[in-house]
Amino acid sequence: MIHDITRKLSRQLRIFKKRSASSREAWVRGRRIMPGGVSGEDFFFQPYPIQVEHASGAMIFDFDGNAYIDYNMAAGSLILGHGNRRVHQSLENTMETYGTSVTGVPNPLELQLATEITDIVRSAERVRFTSSGSEANMLAIRLALSRGKRSKVGKFEGFCHGSFDYGLVSASVPRGEGGPARAPYPFAASEDVSEHSLYNTLVMPFNRLEETALLIRKNRRELACVIMEPLGGGYRPAGRDFVRGVRELTEKYDIPLIFDEITTGFRVGLGGMQEKYRVTPDMTALGKILGGGLPVGAVAGLREFMDPLVPGRRGEMSVYHSGTYNGNSLSMAAGLATLYQLKKEGTYPYLEKITQTIRKEIEGLEQTYGLRAQVLGISSILNLVFTRGKITNYRDISKADASARQLFDLCLANKGIFLFPGRPAFISTALTKPDLARTLEVMESTFDYMASPL
Ligand SMILES: Cc1ncc(COP(=O)(O)O)c(C=O)c1O
Repeated sequence: MIHDITRKLSRQLRIFKKRSASSREAWVRGRRIMPGGVSGEDFFFQPYPIQVEHASGAMIFDFDGNAYIDYNMAAGSLILGHGNRRVHQSLENTMETYGTSVTGVPNPLELQLATEITDIVRSAERVRFTSSGSEANMLAIRLALSRGKRSKVGKFEGFCHGSFDYGLVSASVPRGEGGPARAPYPFAASEDVSEHSLYNTLVMPFNRLEETALLIRKNRRELACVIMEPLGGGYRPAGRDFVRGVRELTEKYDIPLIFDEITTGFRVGLGGMQEKYRVTPDMTALGKILGGGLPVGAVAGLREFMDPLVPGRRGEMSVYHSGTYNGNSLSMAAGLATLYQLKKEGTYPYLEKITQTIRKEIEGLEQTYGLRAQVLGISSILNLVFTRGKITNYRDISKADASARQLFDLCLANKGIFLFPGRPAFISTALTKPDLARTLEVMESTFDYMASPL
C-alpha cells in the first residue's frame, strides 16, 4: 500500500525540478528547435530529461553537477560502462589507422566482427551490418518478404521492433483497443503506419502458445515471417516451451523465424536468448552492445535467407540493401573491443551476481514493506513493476501501477540513482561495490518512504 501517492509525487517532482534547473533550461532551449527537445520519443520523460554533462564508468553527471549511478547505460548498449578503457584505446588506435572512419569500402574490422558473430550467434552463417537495430529488423523482414508470395508479417502484441511500419504495429496499445487477448487486433502505434502494413500484420499474444499456434496455422499460407523478441511483458522471458513451440510451427510451415536480439544479444549471455533456449531462428537482428556504444546493427542469418543480399546475383532475385555507415571502422572497433572483454571468463557471472543482489534486496523490501511489486528481467536486465498479478505478456504489464513506478524512479533520481523512468535497469561491469551498496541503501529508504504516511 502506498500512502499519499499524489502528494508524494508532487513533492518529489518539486525536489527534482529544484535539483535540475540547468537541465530544464537547456531542455527548454532545445525544445525551440528540436521537437520535444529530444532526438527520439524514447528519450523523453516527465517532467523533462536530465542533460548529461559528462559520463564515466558507472556514473553520469548532469548540468547541475548532480552525480547519478547510471542504470540506463545508453539504453542498454553499454555493458562495460561509460568510456571503457579498452574500447577507448581501440577507438584511438582505429582513428590513427583509418582516420575519422572508413566506410563505403570494406575494412578488415568488418570481417573480424562478422567472424566473431558467426562464432557466437547460433543463426549466424552470414552477417550484414546496418547502422541501427531498427534497420536490422527492417532488413530481416524485407529478406523474409523477398522469398515469395506471402505478404503477412507475424509479430507479438506490445513489442516495438523499431521506427518503421511493421516495427510499430501494436508496439503499444491503449487499454481496451487491442481486441480479444487470444487474437489481438493490429493497432497503429504511430499515426503514419500505413493501412497496408496494418492489414498485413498478424498480431499474436506473446507467451500463449495455444492461441499463437492457432493463428499461425490459420495464416500459414500468407505468413512471410514471424518476428519475436524472446524477452517481453516488461522483460519477463518467454517460456521455453513457447519459444520452442513457435520454432517448431514456423519450421513445419516453412515460415522464417526472426529473433529480435537487439537488447538481449551479448547481454543475457554471449549467445543471447537463442543460446539460453537452444533454439536457432532463421535470422537474428542485433544492435546495441554489438557496437560497444557506437551506432550499429546487424542481421545474422542462415545462408539461404541472406543470399539475396549478394550483389548482382545472376538470374536470381536479389534484395537491395545499403547504408553509408554500415560496417564503419569505428563501430566495428568498439564492438570488437567489447566482445573481447565479454569473452573473458567471469564477466557474465559477475554481472549475474550483482543483478541477483539487487533483485533479492528488492524482493526482500517488497515483503517487508508490502508494496505489491515484483522484479522481472533476466541476467543483467532488471525491471520493477508494481503489481503482484501474474505477468506473462503486454496486457498483464499494462495493468501495473505506473504512478508507483514513477514515484520510485523520481525518489531514486533525487538521490543520485538514474533508472530511466518506467524502463528496465541495465547492469554494467563498471558498477563498483560502493555503487551497489549505495543503490541498495537508496532503494531501502525509498521503499520505506513509499510505504509510510507523509
Ligand atoms: C528489442 C528492440 N528492437 C529494436 C530496437 C530498435 O533499435 P535502434 O534503436 O538501434 O534502432 C530496440 C531499441 O531499443 C529494441 O530494444
